[in-house]
Amino acid sequence: MEKAYIDWSTLGFSYVKTDKRYISRWKDGKWDEGALVDDNTITISEASTVFHYGQSCFEGMKAYTAKDGRVLLFRPDENAKRMVQSCRRVMMSEFPVDRFIEACKQVVKANLKYLPPYGSGASLYLRPYLIGVGDNLGVRPAPEYIFSIFCVPVGAYFKGGLAPVNFTISDFDRAAPNGTGAAKVGGNYAGSLLSHEKAVKKGFADCIYLDPATHTKIEEVGAANFFGITHDEKFITPKSPSILPSITKYSLLHVAKEYLGLKTEERDVHVDKLAEFKEAGACGTAAVISPIGGIENKGNLQVFHSETEVGPITRKLYDTLTGIQYGDIVGPEGWVVEVDL
Ligand code: PLP
Ligand code: COI
Repeated sequence: MEKAYIDWSTLGFSYVKTDKRYISRWKDGKWDEGALVDDNTITISEASTVFHYGQSCFEGMKAYTAKDGRVLLFRPDENAKRMVQSCRRVMMSEFPVDRFIEACKQVVKANLKYLPPYGSGASLYLRPYLIGVGDNLGVRPAPEYIFSIFCVPVGAYFKGGLAPVNFTISDFDRAAPNGTGAAKVGGNYAGSLLSHEKAVKKGFADCIYLDPATHTKIEEVGAANFFGITHDEKFITPKSPSILPSITKYSLLHVAKEYLGLKTEERDVHVDKLAEFKEAGACGTAAVISPIGGIENKGNLQVFHSETEVGPITRKLYDTLTGIQYGDIVGPEGWVVEVDL
């Protein structure tokens, strides 16, 4: 397969129009058969709920080229199931899990020339989304829906990749205690734009959100989950009903315990007890693992391992997770799904 003319090593996280995207429409109580299309635009009613009431959700996942040329998806069933949960939260028609996985495979196969080669450090990011469309005025679920998946070749989300970056604690909340924080719905991200912008203007990579009820515990690192390694080498990650259940986070909990032999805990992470950690990181599909150099809170910077070098445990977590994703290390049953070419 001839590859697109792309410098894979300098890719960041930006939109590139690739050849084909999958689209399926829900109308009169059912999804159509779906198809791959060339057009990267969608024409929908001006009265679509996605425009006015934010009735939308999305996913993020990646495809990888293995050393032997196989093409691998990482836990696509988990993304499919999480999208079902997001749909239920904002009352949209669910796209079936088996069809979601099949559509991902079709999109990857139709865009192989954009799939970064093994060893380039890049991957093909898949962006499934589901939106409410059709004529509607009142605040109610849409009469029709669109499910689509497009893909983009990507490199590091946070500048520097495995080089540590600093974060600052946000004054804004990203979610309400019983709100939509655990769902991957569009509105959560609109609400995060201003605090992200403020953090970047202060010189940070992004902001960290505290729990909306008490503002004492870490919830999310921008669009990624948090983890910390305690001085006695436990892998800790926050537990909260208002954070996104990150597939990367749950994968790392398993990797830390079963591959690295660390004790793991999902529990509260108090922002005034950050000195308990000797390493910290942000984890997510886009972020992969981004080491946290330091966290700024009220003018004080809590530095973890180093502001310039990744810590040894964070590196092992990164190497093991990406080793599984690229097919170099055998992962748990079902984590890696091969795309038949
Ligand atoms: N938290 C938020 C708010 C996110 O947007 C994401 C990205 O999907 C994550 C965490 C990480 O989740 P995952 O590991 O499933 O990509
Ligand atoms: C992801 O990691 O897939 C995300 O959704 C993060 C962000 C680009 C929204």
